[in-house]
Amino acid sequence: MGNYHIYMVAILAFIIVRQMSAADVSAEMDTISDNNTTDAEDDCNDEYYSPCSCRRDRYNNQSIFVVCSKASVTQVRDVFRRSTHPQMYSFSFLANHNDPPMTIYSVPVDFLADKRATRISLYGYSKGSSWLPKLAIDSLAFRSTKANVRFLELSYWDLLLQTDFSFLQGFHGLEQLTLSFNDNLAAFQYLPVPFPALRSLYIHHCSDLKQAPFPNLTLSNSNLEELSMPYNDLDDQTVNETLASLVAGGLSNSISSIDVSGNRLTTMPNQIAFFSHLTSLFVTDNSISWIPSSSISLTSPHINMNFLHLNGNNIIGIDSDAFKGNFSTTQVGLNFNRLTLFEENVFKDMLEQMVSIQPAIGSVIVSSNAFVCGCDLAWLIRDHRHLLPVVKGGVCSSRMSFEEFDPESFVGCYEQTTVDSLTTDNSSSNGAFSAATAKLYILQLIGLTFITFVQTMQL
Ligand SMILES: *[C@@H]1O[C@H](CO)[C@@H](O)[C@H](O)[C@H]1NC(C)=O
Ligand SMILES: *[C@@H]1O[C@H](CO)[C@@H](O)[C@H](O)[C@H]1NC(C)=O
Ligand SMILES: *[C@@H]1O[C@H](CO)[C@@H](O)[C@H](O)[C@H]1NC(C)=O
Ligand SMILES: *[C@@H]1O[C@H](CO)[C@@H](O)[C@H](O)[C@H]1NC(C)=O
Ligand SMILES: *[C@@H]1O[C@H](CO)[C@@H](O)[C@H](O)[C@H]1NC(C)=O
Ligand SMILES: *[C@@H]1O[C@H](CO)[C@@H](O)[C@H](O)[C@H]1NC(C)=O
Ligand SMILES: *[C@@H]1O[C@H](CO)[C@@H](O)[C@H](O)[C@H]1NC(C)=O
Repeated sequence: MGNYHIYMVAILAFIIVRQMSAADVSAEMDTISDNNTTDAEDDCNDEYYSPCSCRRDRYNNQSIFVVCSKASVTQVRDVFRRSTHPQMYSFSFLANHNDPPMTIYSVPVDFLADKRATRISLYGYSKGSSWLPKLAIDSLAFRSTKANVRFLELSYWDLLLQTDFSFLQGFHGLEQLTLSFNDNLAAFQYLPVPFPALRSLYIHHCSDLKQAPFPNLTLSNSNLEELSMPYNDLDDQTVNETLASLVAGGLSNSISSIDVSGNRLTTMPNQIAFFSHLTSLFVTDNSISWIPSSSISLTSPHINMNFLHLNGNNIIGIDSDAFKGNFSTTQVGLNFNRLTLFEENVFKDMLEQMVSIQPAIGSVIVSSNAFVCGCDLAWLIRDHRHLLPVVKGGVCSSRMSFEEFDPESFVGCYEQTTVDSLTTDNSSSNGAFSAATAKLYILQLIGLTFITFVQTMQL
């Protein structure tokens, strides 16, 4: 039971870490906006940035950070007209939470005058308010810095008035684009591709993405490595079409990380199988009930997948050849599902790969499922005990962990080969359960009675 608790803590920690990005933004904004930046001492030499604040990088005095949290759009533009420092490491604008509701933030031509910034963040967050302010960025707002921006974030805005993203035209150095907690993101479809340097696209907590087609990111974006689209209320078709457009654009060989957690998926997107170079796949917190054949297909044996997270779905079964590839270093997360069987033909090869690396890095984590633990577990607990250390959090409905099970309890279980040759009728499988699964059920019924008997005797 002790181990079980450790896994639960690890899972919770993981969930907390995954939620951090949103909390981070709020925390960061609280720190920035709670200080009275209006008369904060400006330590950027002679520059006078008020009502914005400016900080010089402690380690690189050529680099400055400018935060404008209590300034109007016009005041910000004036700051950059009179300041002289040409290059910012980061520029952050936060909507002023004292502005009246429904204020429209119209970012004008040459917002930064002739200044350049590596990072630009515009936050519409208004503390304690239930509405998102509207943003409308002029297509020439950032022309002074379009070649320099590597990170751009727009968060907590209503983008109804942002009818296109032409202000991003020519952002040829853009490596990371983050759009989070925005409403009315329909204009995203007009993203002015190409972004030849784009490596990461993070779009999360944007509710209406499914109403617009995904922009045509083609071969010219062949550096894209990370596609993160969690918590956007996306359905099966939208995710599938989005992935299909990336496959059509030739990006399935460059993308190594996909996160489609927290959407409304009921099936594994079949397009995932085309992404043969994945090192991380997060499909946590959806409503998938079955993992079909060839869901994941990593063609190169030397691609080492780090994370395959399918936690928090309603998975009741996995086809035997659902996962193809080298999973020797993969953390496979199947927590909080409804698996009743831990099947040899799904997991054995993967577990053998994992134990072939010592100390093992990979593992299959299966806490909070509904394992019945009959004779179907004999293959693991009795016959392949060396694989047990990489199976984490397995708990049977009797509340006994896989590790605690006495291999002796399985002495009465048939060898699977015997049963295989006895049961030849696979006509009842009708796609929902594999023939092997049906056989295991039979095994399990025989074994369960026996194990229950053994456990009763031990008490
Ligand atoms: C705001 O003030 C607090 C406490 O004085 C300080 O720790 C924090 O670094 C300040 N934040 C900024 C962005 O200056
Ligand atoms: C912030 O600065 C303004 C202007 O200098 C001052 O009137 C106000 O009292 C300050 N607020 C706080 C909380 O320090
Ligand atoms: C920046 O730092 C260098 C040495 O680290 C120093 O010589 C120089 O005077 C500093 N410049 C400013 C503007 O602080
Ligand atoms: C995407 O863009 C490429 C290159 O501009 C073009 O060849 C292709 O037809 C476009 N695809 C779609 C679906 O518009
Ligand atoms: C996913 O997209 C592909 C290609 O567009 C299509 O052939 C397939 O039927 C789609 N599957 C689902 C479940 O929408
Ligand atoms: C799988 O990956 C591991 C770790 O990189 C490697 O040692 C092993 O040789 C690979 N297996 C195969 C069959 O290529
Ligand atoms: C059982 O499955 C095998 C291979 O999948 C097939 O060839 C055979 O016809 C099936 N038997 C029945 C009775 O459906």
